[in-house]
Amino acid sequence: MSTASPAAAGARAASASPLRKALSNVRVPQPLVMVIFGGTGDLARRKLIPALFRLWQQKLLPEAFAVVGVAREQMDDEEYRRRARAALGEFATAATEEEWADFGRRLFFGSHVFDDEEGFERLRTQLQAIDQEFGIPGNRLFYYAVPPRVVDEISRDLGKSGLICPPDCPCWTRAIVEKPFGRDVASARELNLALLEVYDERQIFRIDHYLGKETLQNLMVFRFGNSVWEPLWTRSHIDHVQITVAETVGLEQRADYYEKSGALRDMVQSHLLQILTLVAMEPPASYDADSVRNEKVKVLRSIRPLLGEDIDRETVRGQYTAGEAGRGYRDEEGAAPDSRTETYAALRLQVENWRWAGVPFYLRTGKRLPAKATEVVVAFRPAPHPVMDLVENDLPAPNALVLRIQPREGISLFFEAKVPGLTGRMQPVSMDFDYATAFGGAESPEAYQRLLLDAMLGDATLFARRDEVEAAWTLVTPILERWEAGGEPEGYPAGSWGPEGADPLMGEDKRGWHQP
Ligand code: BG6
Repeated sequence: MSTASPAAAGARAASASPLRKALSNVRVPQPLVMVIFGGTGDLARRKLIPALFRLWQQKLLPEAFAVVGVAREQMDDEEYRRRARAALGEFATAATEEEWADFGRRLFFGSHVFDDEEGFERLRTQLQAIDQEFGIPGNRLFYYAVPPRVVDEISRDLGKSGLICPPDCPCWTRAIVEKPFGRDVASARELNLALLEVYDERQIFRIDHYLGKETLQNLMVFRFGNSVWEPLWTRSHIDHVQITVAETVGLEQRADYYEKSGALRDMVQSHLLQILTLVAMEPPASYDADSVRNEKVKVLRSIRPLLGEDIDRETVRGQYTAGEAGRGYRDEEGAAPDSRTETYAALRLQVENWRWAGVPFYLRTGKRLPAKATEVVVAFRPAPHPVMDLVENDLPAPNALVLRIQPREGISLFFEAKVPGLTGRMQPVSMDFDYATAFGGAESPEAYQRLLLDAMLGDATLFARRDEVEAAWTLVTPILERWEAGGEPEGYPAGSWGPEGADPLMGEDKRGWHQP
């Protein structure tokens, strides 16, 4: 598919739409120091430092910019820089000597911050010295790459040592908080209250890295930047929606976290429900953070809560057993031999509003599935009448739009076509848009690049608001509680498409899961 539009380019340029303006904020942030709590952790090494380096390479960071990594272990700045450089070599492009000379000198390590009561005072002094060295006016971005229980403590200490400026100060303070944001609705509320004791909601950026993925941002452009889909995007034309996030990876080295989490907390509460809101939301009044998030919250609140026995009927949990893709979950390092943690979850949800009443949303996610694929399938209602005389098939297959979020990023529209020849047969074919071909192989930025830049610029559109996170937990918590109260996840062989019990969820509606 070509990217050239038949519409006159001049006419398009003349009308800069609000959506286009909202998406084109490639501005350089004001000078700042970013402090990473969890500065030596996996996230910092794999994602944050590489994303900062790429932003710096692309000249999207201000000249006056520095990073302070904070962690419990002790090291000096030189050692921290050495480790950061190694991480770039491993997880991004290795820095040249020249690049490193400028980027590396901006990295510091916050030593002894967690040692004693004076730790945060020392951090304050260190940040002031860095401000002076680089000419930074006191702007701070605190990144909490730490478990939820530590977020509370750190926030209190930051508040006590005067490191958080209120929103009306001449300089700004912002906080990015990593998932998991709590482990149920009660703990998410507590965490929100703890953060709101020291920050204003406008200063809090709850991150879900899926929202930084280019293809998910494109979902809004696809829906609201084109007039062709909107009339079809309703219960009158759509039969059902499927959202799949399939992973080939297993537990990896994350037993400490995953054993207490499971697929519902780890993936459904955050990534899958976020995708659902983008598919189902109404066009926002404008594209500022609150208007977009208002619409997303409305979707979450329109989902019929699953309670009691409904949960047994509308959800399926699974755990991988030994199979062609490797050993079973219970044999993984760090997993309990009788673990009941689910590595697969499937749900049938109903969004009860005017647009979607009666259209089921099927969600599924799992580890150790045969392919890594995130996709949304919008299945349209079948044609109401057979194609008389022309074809031999009884009924055409329903049309479907497949939005491939990753890794083969693109969109396909499936429809029926007549097979050439003298017999009358039809067959589903597809019209395909492929990111790589359409945009000449242009590389999509990493999700963390986009999100870090947005937080530095103070744009919270792609971050979850307090009510959004709590609404998502409100939906998920009764399911967690019922699953935890009893029963076992159904086994599925590693390398298969999940437990057999997930098929009836669709099958009883005479539908089937789309295989990516
Ligand atoms: C994380 C989960 O949020 O997302 C992981 O904690 C999961 O368990 C990961 O593997 C998937 O992210 P991506 O970007 O690889 O699809």
